[in-house]
Amino acid sequence: MIVTGSSAETIEKAVQLIRTGELIGLPTETVYGLGANAMDDHAVAKIYALKGRPINHPLIAHVYSKDEVRYFSDHVPIFAHHLMDTLWPGPLTLILQKRVDIANACSANLQTIAIRCPKHEVAQSLLQRCRQVNVWGLAAPSANRFGRVSPTTAKHVQEEFGESLFILDGGACDVGIESTIIDCTRGRPVVLRPGILTLKELSICAKEPVVAEHDLIKNSSEKQGRLKAPNASGTLDSHYAPRALVRLLTQAEIQQRLTVESTYSLKLGLWSQPLKLLTNTVYPVFWEQIPSKPIDCAKVLFAQLRAFDGLGVDEIWVEKPQNSPEWAGINDRLQRAAHTGTEHR
Ligand code: TXA
Ligand code: MG
Repeated sequence: MIVTGSSAETIEKAVQLIRTGELIGLPTETVYGLGANAMDDHAVAKIYALKGRPINHPLIAHVYSKDEVRYFSDHVPIFAHHLMDTLWPGPLTLILQKRVDIANACSANLQTIAIRCPKHEVAQSLLQRCRQVNVWGLAAPSANRFGRVSPTTAKHVQEEFGESLFILDGGACDVGIESTIIDCTRGRPVVLRPGILTLKELSICAKEPVVAEHDLIKNSSEKQGRLKAPNASGTLDSHYAPRALVRLLTQAEIQQRLTVESTYSLKLGLWSQPLKLLTNTVYPVFWEQIPSKPIDCAKVLFAQLRAFDGLGVDEIWVEKPQNSPEWAGINDRLQRAAHTGTEHR
């Protein structure tokens, strides 16, 4: 059931469900989440079951403010303080050492925990009320079935889980891709999952260099670090996959493929800059223009993949965005959506 997220009564109803160990759908500025009381292992188990998510893939605890972090961790490095002070509330998740014996299901029994303070005003109102009734945080993964495209509207959430889930509607998400995840447990800040924030912005906010894990891996001396890195399902090769096969192509490759006869039988979704050839094609191509700015592109990325799926296309061809830091989060999601030969498809 979708209800408005901006009324005190629906927030109260959501809090009541959370206190009784139930799940709800909630908006954040990145994507919608499937939330439960982070301290209630039984409630959190329902999230894993409903999503079909393996229980060794930890969830993020969402908090109202920096003040709630102390409940989950008493080991916060100085750069993590700087990041929280400058970027919270916002699309940033920090992995911290976890206090023993709390939020075990949320953290998949790891000794670390992911914590994020979302900016969306509905999420803020909900978390504030939760805090007042001693719920220190909400475990909330993206509200999609495991491996599928993340939801950016309340309707997407309902498409995933049906009528019975209570979903707070907060409109279409502003950011559109999931939060940047920074591991703060390795002595220096390491990005495990890129989001909309660039390494440059993050480094300024952390007051020290923030590095990407994949850059460390290129450095073979750091390979060990990766082996020690905790599980992150958003970092599986295949994730965020629509039903249709996704191909990432250059504009030249798209032009060339469109003239190949074997594609004539395909129903295609094409997300690209305008193409000259398009007007002459005789077979079904659903074309949408890909936004040229990363923030605009991120905002509609998942909704566009879902929309193509809704049209029943066989393949989705996406014009590869440039390989620059501002596009890192989008390129990451597109590459995972395009990854084939996977158990999630
Ligand atoms: O923007 C977001 O982060 C959204 C909204 C709802 O807040 N949430 C989200 O959650 O993307 P989820 O569960 O889809 O992705 C969380 C990621 C997973 O890849 C998980 O493995 C990783 O965070 N993660 C959680 N705890 C971790 C930990 N202790 N160490 C390493 N990675 C962790
Ligand atoms: Mg997810």
